[in-house]
Formats: sequence, C-alpha cells, structure tokens
Amino acid sequence: MKVGILGAGRMTKALASKWIAAGHDICIAGRTLDKAKALAHELGDQATFGTFEDAISYGNTLLIAIRHEGVISTLEQAGARSGSFQGKIVIDCSNPVEIETFTLVGNEQNSMAERIQETANGATVVKAFNLCEAQVWEMEPPLFDGRKLVVPYCTDTDEAGAIGSRLIKDVGCQPMLLGKLHYARHLEAMAAIVISRLFGGVDPHSVFNWITPNPE
Ligand SMILES: NC(=O)c1ccc[n+]([C@@H]2O[C@H](COP(=O)([O-])OP(=O)(O)OC[C@H]3O[C@@H](n4cnc5c(N)ncnc54)[C@H](OP(=O)(O)O)[C@@H]3O)[C@@H](O)[C@H]2O)c1
Repeated sequence: MKVGILGAGRMTKALASKWIAAGHDICIAGRTLDKAKALAHELGDQATFGTFEDAISYGNTLLIAIRHEGVISTLEQAGARSGSFQGKIVIDCSNPVEIETFTLVGNEQNSMAERIQETANGATVVKAFNLCEAQVWEMEPPLFDGRKLVVPYCTDTDEAGAIGSRLIKDVGCQPMLLGKLHYARHLEAMAAIVISRLFGGVDPHSVFNWITPNPE
C-alpha cells in the first residue's frame, strides 16, 4: 500500500517504520520540509517526502499525525474543503487535549476525527492509534506479558475499517472495531486521561494498554 503521511514527528516515525517493515511505501510531509526529508532519509528507500499536497495525492490511504492545533488549518490549506481528499481513507491519531487542564479542546459533541471528516470532503476517517504513547508503538512487537496490544478503532465504512485493521496488524497489534466514527469522542476522552498520567510521570508502557486475553 502507498501511505501519505501528514506530519513528520514522533508518531510518524513510530508508525511509518512498522508499515515500511510490513512492505508499505510512505510519503512524509511536514510544515518543515527539512524535517520530512530527514525522517524519510532515516526510514530508508521505501520512504519519500514532499509537500502536504504531494503526500495527499501519493496514495489512497493517509495518516494525519500533526499536533491537534494545526490539523484543521493544515487540511484547509491543502484544499480539503475543495476535494483534495476525495475518496481517501484517512487515519487520525490526534488527541485534541489541552495539556494544562487535560481537557478536550473544541466541542465535545464532535471529536477531532469527526471534524476532520467534515473538513476533508469525500474522505472516510478512521480513528486509531491515539491511546498509546509513541514509545509503545515503537515496541517490536508491542507485547505485554506475551500478550498483544489491542488497538480500538472506529470508522463509518467497511472499506475504511479493513484498511484500518490491516495497518493495526502491520504494527504488530490486534484490531478491535468499536463502531462508527462517533466512538472517536470516547477514544479522545480516554486519551485525555492517558495523557494526564503520562505528564504525571507514569511509564508509557504501563498506562491503559489494552491487551489480548491470552499470550501469543
Ligand atoms: N507522541 C505521542 O506519544 C502520541 C501518541 C498518540 C497520539 N499522538 C497524536 O499524534 C499527533 C502527532 O503527535 P507527535 O508526537 O508525532 O507530534 P510532534 O512530534 O510534536 O509533531 C508532529 C508534527 O506536527 C507538526 N505541527 C505541530 N504544530 C503544528 C501546527 N500548528 N500546524 C501544523 N503542523 C504542526 C510538526 O511540525 P514541526 O516539526 O515543524 O513543528 C510535526 O510535523 C498529535 O495529534 C498527537 O496528539 C501522539
């Protein structure tokens, strides 16, 4: 699969390295092109870099891994309201959490994932990968006491669900479909609790990491 990634930070590095190992090709875009270039170089031959427009047109599957403050404005600048995301499956891992009070930013009746779907005309959003810290996604594989990490996700269509499920498995995890995209409101609220614990100094490998009932 060809995956375009918006954002060139920690989550991109963690997830892209797993997806590359699983055989996918990646195009990374960031507001700082040099960071996207450096990360693509670090990830090797299956990774390239470009502008946001380049990454959006690169593949049918996209990951948005931008700090929440910049997500909607980045999409709008990249023509999302005019159809640049038409037909794309968009994985959203963002957490719109204000880190002074650990409360959700924006309208709690409308998650960031739903705002992305409303902004990106013609796209189908999958909410996933938002509950664990980047160090957990970097684990090779993410096992706890021999048991796989379970990744809850949600989306509105079977096609997007199948893509989300595959990309979760390619990170070495067990997908768990919650239901339609409105479940993102709960996933983002759960992340607010996770983030408050992480900022309190708790080891990321010990926070809220859902696991399969039995060892592999
Ligand atoms: N880090 C985690 O453990 C973790 C875990 C789960 C979910 N998430 C979510 O994943 C997303 C990415 O997190 P991350 O840790 O990868 O972030 P990060 O390393 O801090 O930055 C990711 C990208 O966001 C860009 N960015 C920051 N502010 C921006 C703005 N106002 N407008 C446009 N671009 C902006 C950065 O550009 P520059 O490099 O130019 O600043 C960078 O390319 C976030 O929404 C976060 O909530 C993070």
